[in-house]
Amino acid sequence: MKGTTPAGTATEQEASKWVRSMFGRIAPRYDLTNHILSLNLDRLWRARTVQRVRPILERADARTLDICCGTGDLLLALNKRARHPVMGSDFCHPMLTAARTKIADRGLGCPLFEADALNLPIADASLDLVTVAFGFRNLANYQAGLAEMYRVLKPDGVAAILEFSQPDTALFGKLYGFYSRNILPIIGGALSGSRDAYRYLPESIGKFPSAPELAREMRSAGFRSVDFTRMTGGAVALHVGTK
Ligand SMILES: C[S@@+](CC[C@H](N)C(=O)[O-])C[C@H]1O[C@@H](n2cnc3c(N)ncnc32)[C@H](O)[C@@H]1O
Repeated sequence: MKGTTPAGTATEQEASKWVRSMFGRIAPRYDLTNHILSLNLDRLWRARTVQRVRPILERADARTLDICCGTGDLLLALNKRARHPVMGSDFCHPMLTAARTKIADRGLGCPLFEADALNLPIADASLDLVTVAFGFRNLANYQAGLAEMYRVLKPDGVAAILEFSQPDTALFGKLYGFYSRNILPIIGGALSGSRDAYRYLPESIGKFPSAPELAREMRSAGFRSVDFTRMTGGAVALHVGTK
């Protein structure tokens, strides 16, 4: 369970650099490609995540950070339900620029900052909720990512990780495997202009820990009351744990 290992990278630094530069290339077409490839299900997955953490968002004093916020889709969905502006961070400048435009277009004041999720410029025990959607899988070291989320949360603070996972049944696994290996790289490559990025996507999903494994890792990072909810036949899972 070390972290992502894009083809051709040998160290955590190389993996991290590869991921940042790949997202930089696809940033301008990221939202469109995402909605098309997921058949718009990504909106539903984010909505279910928001629903799950809504009691925290509705607290007037709750401080929430969406790490690996990318172009800001989860951040904006969370912010709709939040009484205090939700913050966002990402280490890819072009993705953050897209998020900034969307936030400004809506006249919102969500603070954004550029930071590596493995080294957040946030004091210990200062947040009530840390979320991450489809970013955790790209971290160069998953244990370090969990440790950093744990560090910045207050006691009783909650971490929510929405990420691709392994399908529940063999039949759906075969269909999903066929789609992600054969169709997704072609459509994703054509829409985004980066074949690499959409070859990396199914590879990184295939290597990512199963939902029970990730739950175990969250527990060993110190989280309690860890549970996960599978969505869309297990293609995606939402893990939630409390510090
Ligand atoms: C697939 S996008 C997801 C964006 C957004 N959360 C969403 O739901 O659409 C993954 C994002 O994670 C960011 N990311 C990956 N590794 C990161 C790291 N170590 N630190 C900060 N951001 C990272 C990438 O730059 C990218 O914007």
